[in-house]
Amino acid sequence: MFWRMRVHMLGGLTGLAALAISLPVQATDADVMKGKGLFDENCAACHQEDAIGLPGTAPSLANPELLGIASDKFFESTIRDGRVDTGMPPFAHLGRSGVKAIVAYLRASQKLPNRSTEVDAQPEAHGDPRLGKQWYDYICSTCHGLAGDGYEAGGTGTAIGKPGFLSKVSDGFIRETIKKGRSNTRMRGFSGANGLANLSDREIDDIIVYLRSLPKQ
Ligand code: HEC
Ligand code: HEC
Repeated sequence: MFWRMRVHMLGGLTGLAALAISLPVQATDADVMKGKGLFDENCAACHQEDAIGLPGTAPSLANPELLGIASDKFFESTIRDGRVDTGMPPFAHLGRSGVKAIVAYLRASQKLPNRSTEVDAQPEAHGDPRLGKQWYDYICSTCHGLAGDGYEAGGTGTAIGKPGFLSKVSDGFIRETIKKGRSNTRMRGFSGANGLANLSDREIDDIIVYLRSLPKQ
């Protein structure tokens, strides 16, 4: 009896279904709105409006390939801790809910499926760091700096040789980034015929093993 009344009041089953679906979406919308506010206030000066990034100042956070491989944990911990020794400051003072709201805002422009679980589950890289260094010096160092120091070294690539990056990412994350690159940034893919160079899986793993050795040097 009660349900019949409710259904009648809402104008039939379609109305009820719409109500049930719209509630969680509205909660997310509020998070996204809050996240946008926090982003504009705290991040846009470097990462630019709509998070599109600026070469040599801050990377794009709206990039489809990044959003496709980065887990929420990667985003949340990077925002919370920043990247020591780079231009990326820590934002722990925004609190867990503030940081989560910013990630919800970034996710709202997600275009490719989120494959982060699968990417992070990829096997660890095994290879020869000496060969990796040769490739790195030859094709990566102009943008990322000879020691992976990033912008500090005068290039447009981020500090991929420093713990602030390396301690937060899986080998799968690095591997996918080297293979596919990040569209509409200076980071091109390095695999396949359309790549800036056609590195084999083994060569890419050599580079990853070399990168992992950099903070210890
Ligand atoms: C003062 C400039 C500055 C501000 C403000 C800033 N960032 Fe950054 N951010 C950077 C730089 C520079 C890097 C790259 C550091 C490096 O070289 O590894 C970065 C990197 C990142 C990354 C890693 C991206 C990737 O491609 O791996 C994330 C995520 C990020 N910032 C989120 C934020 C968020 C969210 C805010 C605001 C709460 C913010 N940043 C505020 C400068 C800034
Ligand atoms: C022409 C310049 C350029 C070259 C060459 C280059 N990169 Fe990049 N790389 C970038 C830029 C720029 C970004 C960040 C994209 C952005 O600014 O939004 C990046 C991002 C990355 C990231 C993700 C870092 C992060 O903070 O999330 C990795 C890993 C990476 N590059 C590895 C490499 C490797 C390994 C090579 C050599 C095989 C290489 N790159 C060559 C410019 C370059």
